[in-house]
Amino acid sequence: MSVTDFSYTPDVEAETTPIFERVERVIPRVEWPLHGPYVAAINRLKRERNAVILAHNYQVPEIFHTVADIVGDSLALAIEAAKTDADVIVLCGVHFMAETAKLVNPGKTVLVPDLLAGCSLADSITAADVRLMRQRYPGVPVVTYVNTSAEVKAESDICVTSGNAVKIVEALGVPRVIFLPDEYLAKYVASQTQVEIIAWKGHCEVHERFSGDDLRRFRQSDPRVKILAHPECPPDVLAEADYVGSTQGMSRYVGTLAADHENEPAQPVPRVVMITECSMADNVAGQYPSVDFVRPCNLCPHMKRNTLPKILHSLQAMEYEVTVAPEIAQAARRSVDRMLELSRGA
Ligand code: 13P
Ligand code: SF4
Repeated sequence: MSVTDFSYTPDVEAETTPIFERVERVIPRVEWPLHGPYVAAINRLKRERNAVILAHNYQVPEIFHTVADIVGDSLALAIEAAKTDADVIVLCGVHFMAETAKLVNPGKTVLVPDLLAGCSLADSITAADVRLMRQRYPGVPVVTYVNTSAEVKAESDICVTSGNAVKIVEALGVPRVIFLPDEYLAKYVASQTQVEIIAWKGHCEVHERFSGDDLRRFRQSDPRVKILAHPECPPDVLAEADYVGSTQGMSRYVGTLAADHENEPAQPVPRVVMITECSMADNVAGQYPSVDFVRPCNLCPHMKRNTLPKILHSLQAMEYEVTVAPEIAQAARRSVDRMLELSRGA
């Protein structure tokens, strides 16, 4: 199927108005005629191709709330990718997430809307670096954040995400681990466990830009505000936060505040600030209209490469396919599978 007419016809309006209602808090009505025709075309083509769209929490609301079938953090996307019976997975996130989806679904077609959607953490380390770390610390298990290439995962003993890193490090039952490549996530894990952590110097270019001073200013302007921070942030940021967790964990935390407010509506409206990528607050705000959001904003340029027109192109042309060489895939898959097994038990 090839769609060339992207006008906002009465049919498209009728088809997409219920979808718009999910995002009207974060997308101005005047912009919807631009998105609606793509949303309608993508949703139709998804059915024809038996495709699912998996979208990370950092995708813009016009992707996250309208065409995505499954949304979540890196862990949720890996788990759901392993369960899907669709023939085609379109991964709206970054390249390592699509590789992970391919590792757990070797027989399916995994597509990304833009092959250049990378990650500064994944770029901070190579398979050769992991081999050098093993030589330097013989016998110490290598625990690797999923924000890495398949080659790096293949050299590792087990993967973790920000949502399960502490539990998995503890579940290994060893006195020390090599934890790659995010220095700040490694420091956060070290602060939560007795296990000795040997870290690498990789950083997320989005989260490293926040500072403890930023958070103190938020707190000064409203002492009631709840500050939620991602563990990829530097330690002085995490020290000021009320909650530290993965993007999914943050979303759940806001859900609890919203539920508490529903139970006690006489209390002031909860206010949160999310110290993470910009789209996160937009997406969670769409879900919890009873919560106020202060929105400091650091954009991930890689996540933002995905757009509705590129997703449509991806489904029309069945590109860009993500593949992993078989000799790498087998070892990398073992690291991901071990993580999924342990997080089921965790
Ligand atoms: P999570 O969604 O797993 O918390 O990870 C955040 C991130 O930066 C992914 O790129
Ligand atoms: Fe990578 Fe940071 Fe972007 Fe996540 S937010 S994809 S860790 S650069």
